[in-house]
Amino acid sequence: MPRAEVDSQFATCTDWPLDSVIATNGTSSSRAGTPEAPLELIETVETFRRALATERASGRLVGLVPTMGALHAGHVSLIERAVRECDVVAVTVFVNPLQFDVADDLDRYPRDLSADCARARRAGAQMVFAPKRSEMVPQDMATTVSVGGVGEGMEGAARPGHFDGVATIVTKLFAVAGPCRAYFGEKDYQQVLVMRRLVADLGFPVDIVACPTVRADDGLALSSRNGRLCPAERATAPVLHRALVAGAAVVGTGETDPAAVEAAITEVMAQEPLARIDYVRAGSEDGGGWRLYVAACIGDVRLIDNLAVTP
Ligand code: PAJ
Repeated sequence: MPRAEVDSQFATCTDWPLDSVIATNGTSSSRAGTPEAPLELIETVETFRRALATERASGRLVGLVPTMGALHAGHVSLIERAVRECDVVAVTVFVNPLQFDVADDLDRYPRDLSADCARARRAGAQMVFAPKRSEMVPQDMATTVSVGGVGEGMEGAARPGHFDGVATIVTKLFAVAGPCRAYFGEKDYQQVLVMRRLVADLGFPVDIVACPTVRADDGLALSSRNGRLCPAERATAPVLHRALVAGAAVVGTGETDPAAVEAAITEVMAQEPLARIDYVRAGSEDGGGWRLYVAACIGDVRLIDNLAVTP
């Protein structure tokens, strides 16, 4: 990529010297993972493929953190975990058009690559892969990856085509990245289940690592959508977490009927007139635990959350 293009892309970034960006068609030698290390910004599939292949050829374990940008502390926790566990970390930033069921949402999605690069670099990542749409979704693209079973209920039912879009783009990322550890947030727990199924079914040499949900002090799970809440809605939004905690308390009393746990969650949600429930689910998990899920609209902002409850 020509240097001029990098400069214009980062023109709005004030807290981060342009010198620390390396736009490259090859690889960089610095793999220190220190906050001062330069960040390699990669735009093409082929460059990304070669860069990671070179890292592996040098014996380095690759960590991959797929995102749609607008990085917040939740994303940063994934990057920091990857940095602790891997030798080289690549953050991917791509607002994936295939996974938006409402066109409006895609247009409104916050985009700020310079801020994302600054955060990724501060968290210790060595690369940001920010491909153009034509690289990831060519106009004549005709392939869809669809994960049945775990991808069908809840978000899969509420947002038709959403997980197909996620699975298709992540399949492409995995195919390009090659053997690696890939970090996903439990905030989107059903997405984690879809990723595990995808990797198991298609045989990708990828270890899926699930990381805990990062929350605001009042319990609200961090999400790029929180920025769309007006003050009254923002004050209401922690009800999702409160409701899940109430459900967990019912599990704690020894309740074994999912319907009773779901009723407890619904009751707390109903106390907030601004919240409209989409679904509430109490599911069992491997190992005898529970996973409680809620999706609701606060005003016109749709939020999801979930909580693990171990017996
Ligand atoms: P995005 O919403 O940008 O999220 C990227 C990753 O950050 C996901 O794994 C998500 O679960 C995680 N994450 C978001 N909020 C979090 C929080 N509060 N705590 C912990 N982790 C959090 O999820 C996607 O993008 C896309 O579907 C993607 C996988 C990139 C495919 O396009």
